[in-house]
Parts: sequence; C-alpha cells; structure tokens
Amino acid sequence: MNTIEEMLNFKNLYGLSHVDIAQSLDIKASQVKKIEQGLIEMPEWFSLAMDGMESKLSKKRKELSESASGDFTFIDLFAGIGGIRIAFEKAGGTCLFSSEYDPYPAKVYEDNFGEKPAGDITKIDEKEIPSHDILVGGFPCQPFSIAGVSKKGSMGKKHGFEDETQGTLFFDVARIIKYHKPKMFLLENVKNLKSHDKGNTFKVVMKTLTHLGYDVQEKIIDGGLLVPQHRERIYIVGTLDHDEPFKFPIIKAKNKTLEDILEPKGTVDPKYTLSDRLWAGLQRHAKKHKAKGNGFGFGLKKRNEIARTLSARYYKDGSEILIYQGSKKNPRRLTPKECSRLMGFPSKFKITVSDTRAYKCFGNSVVVPVVTRLAKQMAKHQVLKKKVVQSQIH
Ligand SMILES: C[S@@+](CC[C@H](N)C(=O)[O-])C[C@H]1O[C@@H](n2cnc3c(N)ncnc32)[C@H](O)[C@@H]1O
Repeated sequence: MNTIEEMLNFKNLYGLSHVDIAQSLDIKASQVKKIEQGLIEMPEWFSLAMDGMESKLSKKRKELSESASGDFTFIDLFAGIGGIRIAFEKAGGTCLFSSEYDPYPAKVYEDNFGEKPAGDITKIDEKEIPSHDILVGGFPCQPFSIAGVSKKGSMGKKHGFEDETQGTLFFDVARIIKYHKPKMFLLENVKNLKSHDKGNTFKVVMKTLTHLGYDVQEKIIDGGLLVPQHRERIYIVGTLDHDEPFKFPIIKAKNKTLEDILEPKGTVDPKYTLSDRLWAGLQRHAKKHKAKGNGFGFGLKKRNEIARTLSARYYKDGSEILIYQGSKKNPRRLTPKECSRLMGFPSKFKITVSDTRAYKCFGNSVVVPVVTRLAKQMAKHQVLKKKVVQSQIH
C-alpha cells in the first residue's frame, strides 16, 4: 500500500478509523492523520505495516466465508444497528460482510456482533465482497434522474440500470447483485418508495431487479402486527429461481399494546418527562396545525394503545410518541431501551451510544420480528438448496 488513495480504500473496506490503525501499529493517531492528509510522506515501514494488516484482515474474512456453517450465507448492506442481521441469523444464516458508514450505528453494530462493518458502500468494489446466498439491505431512497435517461435515449444510446440509477445508493445495490447473483435478496424501504418521485423510483427499482434475472415480489407490511407500533414498510424479495415465486408469510396479529414494552409505572428517570416549556410548545404547535386542518402534531398515547411510527427525528422532541402519565404530570418520551423493545429487539441487545444517537439508530431500524418471519420464509425456499442456479453463471 503506497498511496493515500489505497490507504483510504483499505480503511473503508474494513471500517477502520485512523485511531484503529494507530492502535494496531502502536503509534500516535495524529501521525496516521498526517499521513492520510498528505502532510507527511508515507514512510516505508508504515506502508509495509499496512500491507501486513490488510493481509491479516482479508485472510480473516476469507476464513469466515470458507468456514460458514449456517444454512445459508448473507451480506448486510446499509446495516444500521443490525436489525435485519438479527432476523437472518435467527433464520439460520451466517453473515459474511456488512456495510454501514455512520460511526454511531457502526459502533452499536460492532458492540453487538463483534464485527466492524465496512464503510461507504459506494466506494467498495463489488469484487471485494464475498459471494453469498442472500443479500439484505434497507437502502435510503433517492430519486433517479429521468432527464439523464431520456437525454441518453434521445441520443440513441443504450441505457441499462447503470445509466438510470447512477449516483444513487440503489445503483450500488444493483451492481453488487449483478456481480454476485445471490440466490435471493430482501430489500426494505419506507412505504413511500412506491409513490416517491411520482412512482418513477419504484418503477426503476422493480425494472432493474427484474432485468437482473430475478422474480421480484413486494409487499407492504405493518410492524403493528407484531409490536405495538404502527410502522408500514415495503419489503421486496427477489429470487433467482422463477419456478417458485416467493410467497410472503401470512402474519397473524399479536395485538400488543405499549404496556408490553414500557417500564413499570413510576420507575422511569424523570429526565424523560417533558419540561413545562417543551410540553406547552408542542400543544401550541398542535393547536395551530389543528386550526389549519392539519391534524395533531403529537402522538400522546396511553399504555393500552399502540404507538405511531418511531422516526429518526424522535430525539428532537419525542413528539410522535409521548407516554401519558396522568393529568397531573407532563407526558414523557420513551427511553432508548423501550425504543429497542418497540422495534422488537431482543432484551440482550446492547445500546452503547448516547440517548440521542440511540433514538436515531432505532428510528432508522426495522421491526425485527417482522423481518424474522420473512427471513424464516426465505430460508425455506428451494433455491437455497440448489448448489448453483443456472442464471447465477456469469
Ligand atoms: C434505513 S437505515 C437501515 C437500518 C438497518 N436496517 C437497521 O436495522 O438498523 C439506512 C442506513 O444506511 C446507512 N448508509 C447510508 N448511505 C450509506 C453508504 N453510502 N454506505 C454505507 N452505509 C450507508 C445509513 O447510515 C443508515 O444507517
């Protein structure tokens, strides 16, 4: 490794910070930073040490792939804190690779799964990713540029998904699927993916996945069937085998209420109770919106009710899910532990970041029991039992 670019790619591929490198080489973090910024030339000993680190880490990844003992292997893209990973491990899978570029969810991920996710997926060559049976990920949705496509079309040039999705994170999902041809994939997204950019985004997504050789099925499922939270998400499942289209499982409602996930009454730290100022402000705001016919601005819930969708902005004022604490007390927000339960995470799941970061992490995550049902259904598919599917051959 001789150039800064090679060093940055290496760091990204293994999710390493300059502090990780400094610790491993027993040097100062500032020294690594200076080399990275080009302020000092990369010394030969450093370059050699980095080569050594790279070969050790790549050997470890290879060994993991070769020794995978589960029923199937999978990779975890846009991994967040690993809600999808928990589900697929429960269904018998072994995770071979993960990617998450935000250091806070990446820390929670590492603290729970003992593995540093790789960084920015847009900078990772698909050839560096181990081959796998199932690809999973909840990619952030971005509009595709129709203008770019029609311009190319009008110039008489062929345009595949590369042109239509270039510059979006879905493009990265598609290029990895195109190269590895996993037997199945599960993509998760907000329900609005269907109406995003007047339906164009969804059309391009479905067309692209179909063109890559997959039978593609999709369904909107409300997490409220299994946890006390109304959370509609779209799940897209692709199967390389067209003989048996994937059938979504029928999920029977468990009719949970907030009582099932809340701490016992009177045991929550008072810091989660809204201040008089914040509570008055929220009520004022709601009143203003109601007068305009916009509905309520906050979601005040009793323990026997079901919550609205927990969002990544919950840390701001907690307004979407406020817990009623009687007429003499202001309502309170959920604690991060309650958010974890609201998303159906197991009780042993460790929350190792601040409250603010934790709210963001859980608000971005998935309802684990729903994904577990999907993962178990996918794990039963005949395509996973086939050694190689014809359309997997390049
Ligand atoms: C909707 S969240 C998915 C959360 C995940 N399903 C979970 O259970 O926690 C999308 C995640 O993608 C990550 N992300 C966005 N762009 C990325 C990129 N270019 N490379 C890697 N991760 C990225 C975000 O930081 C975010 O955590």
